[in-house]
Amino acid sequence: MDFHAQSNISFIRHKIHELEKFTEKKRPFTRLVFSKEFYEARVWLKDEYLKLGLSVSTDEAGNLIGTLNSKINTDKIIIVGSHIDTVPSGGKFDGIAGVVAALCLIKHIKDNDINLPFNLAVYDYLGEELNDWGISCIGTRGMIGALNQEILSRGNSSGNILKDEINKIGGNSKSLTKPLPTIKNILACLELHIEQGKILEQKKLDIGIVRSIPSISRFNVEVNGQAGHSGTILMDQRADALVASSEIITFINKLALILSQESNQHFVSTIGKITVSPNAAAIIPGKVEMTIDLRSSSKSSREQYIKELEEKIELMNKTGTCKIDMNNIAYAPFVEMDKELVKLFKDSANSCGLTNQIMDSGAGHDTAQLSRLVPAAMIFIPCKGGLSHCPEEHAEILDISKGTAVLLKMVENLAMLNRA
Ligand code: GLV
Ligand code: MN
Ligand code: MN
Repeated sequence: MDFHAQSNISFIRHKIHELEKFTEKKRPFTRLVFSKEFYEARVWLKDEYLKLGLSVSTDEAGNLIGTLNSKINTDKIIIVGSHIDTVPSGGKFDGIAGVVAALCLIKHIKDNDINLPFNLAVYDYLGEELNDWGISCIGTRGMIGALNQEILSRGNSSGNILKDEINKIGGNSKSLTKPLPTIKNILACLELHIEQGKILEQKKLDIGIVRSIPSISRFNVEVNGQAGHSGTILMDQRADALVASSEIITFINKLALILSQESNQHFVSTIGKITVSPNAAAIIPGKVEMTIDLRSSSKSSREQYIKELEEKIELMNKTGTCKIDMNNIAYAPFVEMDKELVKLFKDSANSCGLTNQIMDSGAGHDTAQLSRLVPAAMIFIPCKGGLSHCPEEHAEILDISKGTAVLLKMVENLAMLNRA
């Protein structure tokens, strides 16, 4: 595939441009899972699948699938997928680049009448981004049977229950506590994604071949103090929930810095979501809720962090004026990508004449969930300044086209390996 070909470049540019229109108008680029904009984008995507002559379906986990059926009669599937949902005020490329690359790949295969010994399915995995229900990768967790009743029964801030939303979009929430039957037919899951970091750009490399994806843990922390008049309650008589929270925020920031330096492995911790109640200038904060997002490629550093944080909270509960509770709300384990697929991706990038490097992911991905049960691997393409999860996120169309060429070579290599 000629990645410089104007037809591919225009196709990719055009599709990204069309998708970016499905956003909350006042908060570009925001297409939260199950929102009006998300439903509209899915109608668009379904239409794209149909225009490419794919058969369209939604699986039990709510993933939107377009399948190019093999001319031979087979159940075997190769999936090329990513996601079209975004974080609030996110970018135009996170997830979207992978879905558009998959569409371009299918177009090339159809235009060139390439026969494959397996069915090739494009997946828009449902709700990859962390959402108001406190869970990411809904569609891929559902595929592998990793959504339990507690998660499915969660309500969001508007009281909408997750399982009702999954059912409304065409899924079947009753089937998601064990792996879906399709899992046994999957030969490989492939994903193209922007790097969301700076390594490829700094080293001027075309392609990153992902070797591992860190564990992700999320904790809700609730700090209960006592609201009161900011003018009359003296300083030594307060139970200020925000002041106690700030002590936790500073504590984990320092702890994560130390652990990341000690382990020399990927280790980052963030509090990016915090709600202060009642959030008024003349009232002492009575309650704070915040979410800790912890990512680690080291089991022992993760355990050390949780132990030290629990001890800190215990001490603050004993000696402070606020009551602090911490709950684990989500966990995805550290995973390594399928070694054969990593090697094949490397060979594929090399035969496309593209510079590449094997690397570890800092972000979480649907491919991490899938890799727990089926052979899965992914590639990164550069993104400007490593910026992601913000409107400034940018990837060059040529770089997406290069990644698409690697996906194609990969599919051709897998076809060769799987021919009877
Ligand atoms: C996915 O976007 C993540 O939060 O890593
Ligand atoms: Mn993503
Ligand atoms: Mn993301």
